[in-house]
Amino acid sequence: MAFSESAQEPAAPYGGAASSPKRVRIRHFQQAKRDGVKIVGLTSYDYLSAGIFDRAGIDFLLVGDSAGNTVFGYDTTLPVTVDELIPLTRAVARGARRALVVADLPFGSYETNPREAVHTAIRFMKETGAHAVKLEGGERSAEQIRHIVEAGIPVMAHVGFTPQAEHGLGGHVIQGRGEEGAEKLLRDAKAVEAAGAFAVVLEMVPSESARAVTEALTIPTISVGAGPHCDGQLLVWTDWAGFTTGRIPRFVKQYAQIGKDLEDAANAFREDVSSGAYPAPEHEYE
Ligand code: KIV
Repeated sequence: MAFSESAQEPAAPYGGAASSPKRVRIRHFQQAKRDGVKIVGLTSYDYLSAGIFDRAGIDFLLVGDSAGNTVFGYDTTLPVTVDELIPLTRAVARGARRALVVADLPFGSYETNPREAVHTAIRFMKETGAHAVKLEGGERSAEQIRHIVEAGIPVMAHVGFTPQAEHGLGGHVIQGRGEEGAEKLLRDAKAVEAAGAFAVVLEMVPSESARAVTEALTIPTISVGAGPHCDGQLLVWTDWAGFTTGRIPRFVKQYAQIGKDLEDAANAFREDVSSGAYPAPEHEYE
């Protein structure tokens, strides 16, 4: 979508790198839903990947607590802490010129009460340069969302399968199935909308349930394995780029195989050093 010539700020920065270097704001999420323009997000955990995704016109970068798995090597997202995520978020914010940067609040940093939630959200905003925070939970997190939004901090909500609650949910189980599941999903989504969230992630829910939620809400829905009817799509970049080792969720389409490329490169380097092929004369100083 094109820039408005007269406005100081772009009317709509959507449409990728070619259309706009200006910062994506939460109002553009609203505008994208209204205009039927899809919102595109990836996770990012460092400066270099953030810069690459930003230049490619990805609209928002989520510094997900999935860093617990992808950066720190934990089995689940539960152990990752605020102190571990803050430096990653700061690096991503430094790398992103256009994309909206969203900081994920980790497990144990917001559930106890709204005061704790506001305190954690303020830490991320003050110490990282992020533009918004994300937290998990529908009705159960509505009070937290309301208080964070009242403090002036935009909140992206997250319902359906919520990995921080994976033990309570009985593992990696699709949510929002059947009449009861679909009704609970809708209740959760409406609760976070009423609490002031500017967007809501729907993770691992049937596409028809996601469609019903998307049609019922005025804020955009962002799919993570929730099918094509949502207002945007988000993937964990290491899954999407073939960097993750181990199980990749079925809903992921892989756009690269950088894990294999890196392994091949490391093997080639080792062989070149062993054989003396590296360094060659052109790599030497006189
Ligand atoms: O941490 C994360 O990457 C997430 C997305 C999968 C929604 O929460």
